Amino acid sequence: MCGIVGYLGSRDATPIILNGLKRLEYRGYDSAGIAVMNGGQIDVRKDAGKLSQLVDLVNKSPLNGAPGIGHTRWATHGAPSARNSHPHVGNSGKTVVVHNGIVENFLELKDELSSEGVVFNSDTDTETIVHLAEHHHAAGVSFTEAARRTFKQIEGANVVLLMSTDEPDKIVTARIGNAGGVVIGLGENENYIASDIPAILEHTRKVIFLESKQMAIVTRDSVRIETLDGVEIKPEIHTINWDAVSAEKGEYRHFMQKEIHEQVRALTDTLAGRVDFKEGRIRLPELKLTPELAKRIQRIYITACGTAAYAGMVGKYLIEKIARIPVEVVIGSEFRYSDPIVDENTVVLAISQSGETADTLAAMEEGKRKGGIVWSIVNAVGSQAMRVADGYIAMQTGPEIGVASTKAFTAPLVDQYMLAILLADMRGVIDDKTRKQLVSDLRLVPDLAGRALDAESQVEKVAQALKDIKGCLYLGRGINMPIAYEGALKLKEISYIHAEGYPAGEMKHGPIALIDEEMPVICIAPKDPWHEKMISQIQQAKARGGKVVAIATEGDELVKDMADHVIWIPECPWMLSPIITVLPLQLLAYHIAATRGLDVDQPRNLAKSVTVE
Ligand code: AGP
Repeated sequence: MCGIVGYLGSRDATPIILNGLKRLEYRGYDSAGIAVMNGGQIDVRKDAGKLSQLVDLVNKSPLNGAPGIGHTRWATHGAPSARNSHPHVGNSGKTVVVHNGIVENFLELKDELSSEGVVFNSDTDTETIVHLAEHHHAAGVSFTEAARRTFKQIEGANVVLLMSTDEPDKIVTARIGNAGGVVIGLGENENYIASDIPAILEHTRKVIFLESKQMAIVTRDSVRIETLDGVEIKPEIHTINWDAVSAEKGEYRHFMQKEIHEQVRALTDTLAGRVDFKEGRIRLPELKLTPELAKRIQRIYITACGTAAYAGMVGKYLIEKIARIPVEVVIGSEFRYSDPIVDENTVVLAISQSGETADTLAAMEEGKRKGGIVWSIVNAVGSQAMRVADGYIAMQTGPEIGVASTKAFTAPLVDQYMLAILLADMRGVIDDKTRKQLVSDLRLVPDLAGRALDAESQVEKVAQALKDIKGCLYLGRGINMPIAYEGALKLKEISYIHAEGYPAGEMKHGPIALIDEEMPVICIAPKDPWHEKMISQIQQAKARGGKVVAIATEGDELVKDMADHVIWIPECPWMLSPIITVLPLQLLAYHIAATRGLDVDQPRNLAKSVTVE
């Protein structure tokens, strides 16, 4: 996934675009570039490496003028390098493009264009777009029409911004498929285009979200939205109520640390307006769930990727335990290739922070295609997964910038707990007393999270002890088994240490051979129905010389006497325990990576949302 910014107005485009790209760097940071209209010609600066290198380049060789477009890249076709970085200019020098996604028919297009004498200067699929636009323009149609024809001809999921010296006051943009969003920001005699809201929030809160297969012709004082066949569409204008600060680091060293600590607020926000503590009832109006629908649901698939999939694995326990509906968790990249058994009584529930993950969106499409009811639990306002669902639950955590997901992991745990209660209530499978107790327990969550995060200094000590390890095992059981997977993923993706989450009960069937004094074992052993089993797991690991770090409930003397390190969490209702047990593991991964001096917010090879399959 890449970050894209466009600006049209009377100010110089460069500083506005560079600032916007800074707020999008979490989307990809292999290379960056910018192009502006300057006195009838296109000026470009671009280079491999992080945005800071582009800023240095621009400081040495300034750019003036507007409109302009900028790009920060997560490489798909063509290695990260200056020649492959965007923007790309056509052979005539009159047209320039930035792009997010994959042009699936680029080889065929490249062959056709090359046979007409077009010279390619990069290894990217993106370059075919600008040459195609020039090809159509040279055939005698306007730049805007040439852009439209180009959008219709490229295949795959793509977001494109094009500019031309022939219509220098315009940026023409299009969104085709699930390649990430296009947000058009409406200013006073200036307009903005970006991949995501944080890039333009300091300038405007009024935005339009492009839908798939739509294009926009944008000048400083006009925005025209059309289908790719030229039919004008009257867009809905949204007002964003995020505060700009929430997209900043504040006093924290990294966005990830800030977002870990923001979870007290985020958990409060995801509950806001949805819990009637007096009646002991849950309200999720955007889900559009009725008792009739609730009663006829026979199966739920939860589909997601990475951390979101592990959140879904916890959801399975919650929904099956509380609402007694069979739940199957299938990762997004497998769902549509597994020929899932979906009918009108099947729910396909997607979980996605960005709402733009291509594999998850493809799974939603498959669910729809097979006639299922498609829901989503999403953080990014206006994202594809929010818009295409029959009903959704907004995570309401505010923007999550750190590539390693934290608050967008714990919020959907609460959201699925609420969903389970609502389903059980509407299906009449829960008595008043139980329902009121489950709802009342939600009141504890923010405070329990805050208390667990207060253990950060304990975690830092453990991080110091583990900072040079070569590998690590994470073990959990029952509802906390997914936390073993999530804890391991956190460590892997930001510290580059190999870590493996495993069902603790499975260790004796082979993997226990891995344990020795060089292989620390993180045991998630809170006071839950599997506590006793985890105690014997700790004993098994210790008996083989393993170093054990236990996540345990305050006052658990048994664990205290056995483990090498203990990170304490407050006592909590077992169905809510994953929300709490994951917090020290987020902090542990963070402090190990930070101690190793790694780029916590922008880990190598990763992007915040993977909008390619
Ligand atoms: C989580 O730390 C990772 N960054 C990654 O696994 C992420 O959860 C996954 O790519 C799904 O993203 P989404 O929630 O935006 O769909």
